[in-house]
Amino acid sequence: MAHTDPDAATALRRMVEGYQVSQAIHVAATLGIADLLADASLTSDELAAATRTHPPTLYRLLRALAAAAILHEQEGRRFELAPLGRALRSDAPDSIAGWAAFVGRPYYWEAWAGLLHSVKTGDNAFQHVHGTDVWTYRSTHPEEGAIFDRAMTSLSRRSTAALLAACDFGRFKTVIDVGGGNGALIAAVLAAHPMVRGVLFDQPHVVSAAAPLLARAGVADRCRTVGGSFFDSVPEGGDAYLLRAVIHDWDDEHAVRILARVASALREGGRMLLVERVIAPPDEGRDAKFSDLNMLVGPGGRERTEAEFTRLLEASGLRLERVLDAGSFCIVEAAAA
Ligand SMILES: C[S@@+](CC[C@H](N)C(=O)[O-])C[C@H]1O[C@@H](n2cnc3c(N)ncnc32)[C@H](O)[C@@H]1O
Repeated sequence: MAHTDPDAATALRRMVEGYQVSQAIHVAATLGIADLLADASLTSDELAAATRTHPPTLYRLLRALAAAAILHEQEGRRFELAPLGRALRSDAPDSIAGWAAFVGRPYYWEAWAGLLHSVKTGDNAFQHVHGTDVWTYRSTHPEEGAIFDRAMTSLSRRSTAALLAACDFGRFKTVIDVGGGNGALIAAVLAAHPMVRGVLFDQPHVVSAAAPLLARAGVADRCRTVGGSFFDSVPEGGDAYLLRAVIHDWDDEHAVRILARVASALREGGRMLLVERVIAPPDEGRDAKFSDLNMLVGPGGRERTEAEFTRLLEASGLRLERVLDAGSFCIVEAAAA
């Protein structure tokens, strides 16, 4: 019997143990370690004092992160950020601090522990483990809701430049960001296009936290916020409806209900812009295919191929016009059929 290449076995073991690295990064992000190391190196005792953690145990966490090339350990238990760790700073342009602070939350890990249940049954693991859906859970656990919304803002910031480069939002009068979270994307669109007006639409408890971000971006006077559910109605009057990472949260039945609601609000000649990961051919597109598992486990949705988007849009009274490449995301542009 052929033996497995020992390097392949080590690589596989590290993948198997990837949850340990993930949780260690999550703890560092929760403690704000990268922000504390932003300007200067610090000893583990100094970091323990600043984070009110147990000094010898924090050192064990930090040296493991250094061995994983996230920090760099110097003489005397002193640490600085390694190039990889710089993206854990909350002020880094490509920061993933918010995302790292979310993914290790115990309630979300418990849902991932239900992956086997999902694979056996096709059911949503979160519902199986917690007896409710992610959105109801977060609305009744405001701290988790705020951590999730910050995670979305953090991810949104990373993909925004590519979206603005790929799509000319200046051709629209009013862009309505449906399920727009804390407003990071609509704020960037409006900041880049001073003649465009915006509407941020999301659940009431989510849009209620958007004002500071819109004010910081200098677009508050051109952006209305509206709270509600996209299963009931969406604001009228947009010539562009933007939905970033919204449709992937839902199974086909719910996705068609949302898209049909938006289609009925679309002005003549208007456009629907779905910003989503599109599933690539076999063996390619790791991010989208693992995000698909994350959708299975968390909200109960899925990532889709271009053919699946075409069918979904047709079932909602829309027609796929084109798919634009925008870095890690695609813009699926649709119009009324
Ligand atoms: C994955 S997040 C994406 C947020 C934002 N578009 C972004 O890219 O950062 C999905 C969003 O859908 C919103 N959402 C979920 N259910 C909703 C509903 N019934 N009506 C309106 N928004 C909803 C959530 O509050 C959340 O902000």
